[in-house]
Amino acid sequence: LFRREWIFLRGVAAMKFLPPEGPHEVAFAGRSNVGKSSLINALVRQKGLARMSNTPGRTQELNFFIPSGYSGEAEDLPPFALVDMPGYGFAQAPKAQVEAWTKLVFDYLRGRVTLKRVYVLIDSRHGIKRIDEEVMDLLDKAAVSYQVVLTKADKIKAPALKKLVEDTAQKISRRPAAFPGVIATSSEKGWGLDELRMAITTAVEY
Ligand code: GTP
Ligand code: MG
Repeated sequence: LFRREWIFLRGVAAMKFLPPEGPHEVAFAGRSNVGKSSLINALVRQKGLARMSNTPGRTQELNFFIPSGYSGEAEDLPPFALVDMPGYGFAQAPKAQVEAWTKLVFDYLRGRVTLKRVYVLIDSRHGIKRIDEEVMDLLDKAAVSYQVVLTKADKIKAPALKKLVEDTAQKISRRPAAFPGVIATSSEKGWGLDELRMAITTAVEY
């Protein structure tokens, strides 16, 4: 499916606009600017699919993407959708707006029946922060399966990356809903993408 063309289905700014629950959903969560939109584009090999930017706060809605060739009608649903999300934490946008996005993201993560797997993205230069812990607490509580992905691995040296992968795996090892294994990626260099595609494919098959 990652060889198919992917298309933008819908962007939603509030829970009431969510598409009807249908295909499994795989969502990408993380602090602003961590590289969520870039990673989705790299996975499907389409640079312009999800909008990316240098400015934290680029993605402002929950954006749903599906492979092309499905009508979306009940009898013709795609096997799964990819969901890009606004970042949490700092963003170059009014405080009230950032709070609204964060609430939308948290509500979606907590309450979406068809949400099959969340990828929690962590910037390789920064490691797990307090807000990431809060998101993982929420996912553990809601029993939503998630896996940690390190982004921008090209920004740190190989030994530091190796240590970060080990330390991060150790940090999440006691978390009940965390899928074991930390995937180091670089959207820029293409690192870790095949591993992540396989993990997603496996996650949605169950
Ligand atoms: P928001 O939507 O604002 O929350 O950001 P985001 O998490 O979607 O990040 P986005 O994909 O827009 O990327 C943010 C910046 O990081 C852009 O300038 C990207 O070019 C850069 N970036 C993303 N992935 C990588 C990577 O693997 N390596 C490097 N070096 N830069 C990256
Ligand atoms: Mg984005």
